[in-house]
Amino acid sequence: MELGGSVAIITGAGGAIGGATARLFAAEGATVVLADVRNEGSEEIARQVRESGGKASSCTADVSDEKDVVALVRSTVDSFGSLDILVNNAAISMTTPILDIDVADWDRVLAVNLRSVFLLSREAFRFMKTRKKGKIVSMASASAKIGGLVVGAHYAASKAGVICFTKSLALQAAPYGINVNAVCPGPTRTPMTEAWGEKANEEFAAKIPFKRYGEPREIAEAILFLASERSRYVTGEILDVNGGLIMD
Ligand SMILES: NC(=O)c1ccc[n+]([C@@H]2O[C@H](COP(=O)([O-])OP(=O)(O)OC[C@H]3O[C@@H](n4cnc5c(N)ncnc54)[C@H](O)[C@@H]3O)[C@@H](O)[C@H]2O)c1
Repeated sequence: MELGGSVAIITGAGGAIGGATARLFAAEGATVVLADVRNEGSEEIARQVRESGGKASSCTADVSDEKDVVALVRSTVDSFGSLDILVNNAAISMTTPILDIDVADWDRVLAVNLRSVFLLSREAFRFMKTRKKGKIVSMASASAKIGGLVVGAHYAASKAGVICFTKSLALQAAPYGINVNAVCPGPTRTPMTEAWGEKANEEFAAKIPFKRYGEPREIAEAILFLASERSRYVTGEILDVNGGLIMD
């Protein structure tokens, strides 16, 4: 098993990609802590993982809130004795055009999508540094590279921030044997993209060389690679998983 004996926090684990990642990690032997601001979805996934013999617990946490983040990392280490993998997956998406974005929406998107990555990574790094090992994987987005046409500019800008934060942390964490990377998905078949509507999705899919959206499981497999020992010499990488939409 790729992750046997590891303890992993996955944020936004009640959602499509987070849920697929939690299931995959548990199947690969990790103890998974599913954190989400809405606990019903993540608790149901944790229950299913336990029923099939895996190790999982769920908890309610708002990743934009410093107190919740500190408590999440502390309770994970107290309960399971370690924190080996952090997956910064929680995010919110808005499609508001720039002229209609108000300051409250701008701040909320940046707080949930980018401040959270800083807060969680800081607390995880604090712990992983003492162990001289660890893996931090954050979710960026193709919109960070090409701009947000369907998704809002605030969402795209937050994800561009995730990319730069990932590279900065990778530099500072490398001396401690910690790998810090990001996955950069193109459009993926999830409720987030379903909300764009059928017409927008058909038009977008036609522009992708594979002529289809990614599946949550396909994104989870890239996250697994970056969380496993198979990527031990990879750090500061922004891994495109987009069916050929962007090649850079
Ligand atoms: N779906 C796509 O096409 C796509 C494309 C590129 C990047 N991504 C990124 O992949 C990740 C997962 O996307 P998804 O499509 O599975 O989204 P999703 O909406 O299905 O899941 C996101 C989860 O995050 C949780 N969440 C929201 N705010 C939170 C908060 N403050 N604290 C804790 N949890 C919170 C939600 O409750 C939800 O369960 C996100 O970072 C997203 O930006 C998705």
